[in-house]
Amino acid sequence: MARSRPYVILGAAMSIDGKIATRTKKSRLSSDRDLMRVHKLRGKVDAVLVGKNTVHVDNPSLTVRHVKGRNPARIVLDPRATIPLNSKVVKTSNAIPTMLVVSDMASPRKISLFAKKGLQVIRCGRTGIELKKLLSILSRQGIKKILVEGGGTTNWHFLKEKLVDEILVTVTPYIVGGKGAVSLVEGHGFDSISYSFKLKQIKKMDNEIVLRYVL
Ligand SMILES: NC(=O)c1ccc[n+]([C@@H]2O[C@H](COP(=O)([O-])OP(=O)(O)OC[C@H]3O[C@@H](n4cnc5c(N)ncnc54)[C@H](OP(=O)(O)O)[C@@H]3O)[C@@H](O)[C@H]2O)c1
Repeated sequence: MARSRPYVILGAAMSIDGKIATRTKKSRLSSDRDLMRVHKLRGKVDAVLVGKNTVHVDNPSLTVRHVKGRNPARIVLDPRATIPLNSKVVKTSNAIPTMLVVSDMASPRKISLFAKKGLQVIRCGRTGIELKKLLSILSRQGIKKILVEGGGTTNWHFLKEKLVDEILVTVTPYIVGGKGAVSLVEGHGFDSISYSFKLKQIKKMDNEIVLRYVL
């Protein structure tokens, strides 16, 4: 049976204590070997998706660099269209398909600025982003597999709506701590311990382990 939405992989590197960044927003947790694995994975998906805070804080390229492979499309969830015009994803949007997903809260002026820069602006929601609707739009554009690369708030939105098919998380050998440090999953959280995934694979890489969970 044909899927009505893309297959969604949630990928992240976290500390032993479940943080994906320090309280001072440092997020380079992966080893070089793990980074190569992530880049290989990017080469196999149709699109990589992040929340707008990740662009503000990390200014990622979201490209395939450490291995050979094609670049996936890039998707940024940014209800108010706030990411900097000089961020890497914006600056390279003529070469790599890049989508900015906004809500009705984004000003027409901002939308047209991003469109002029070469981004495809998708309006999808009144104040927030309606993820199910977004996934069906992406599906119609031929996107079959998406890698959600955080941050914690974006991860929460996808999990809350039960839109994640697979979780690939690297446990790195660090302890980060801190109430204000971003965890793998932020948001309100679930009330009960009932939403679970099946552990399919464990890969040990020197000082890290990559865990693969599926629904
Ligand atoms: N270690 C890792 O693997 C990794 C990976 C990625 C990021 N990070 C770290 O994570 C941190 C950022 O995480 P974060 O939780 O602060 O932010 P985030 O997930 O990057 O971005 C969150 C923002 O995106 C928008 N958004 C996301 N999903 C939405 C939805 N369904 N509906 C509406 N808006 C949505 C919201 O914008 P509005 O507020 O405008 O509504 C929300 O506040 C950074 O420090 C970064 O370095 C670590």
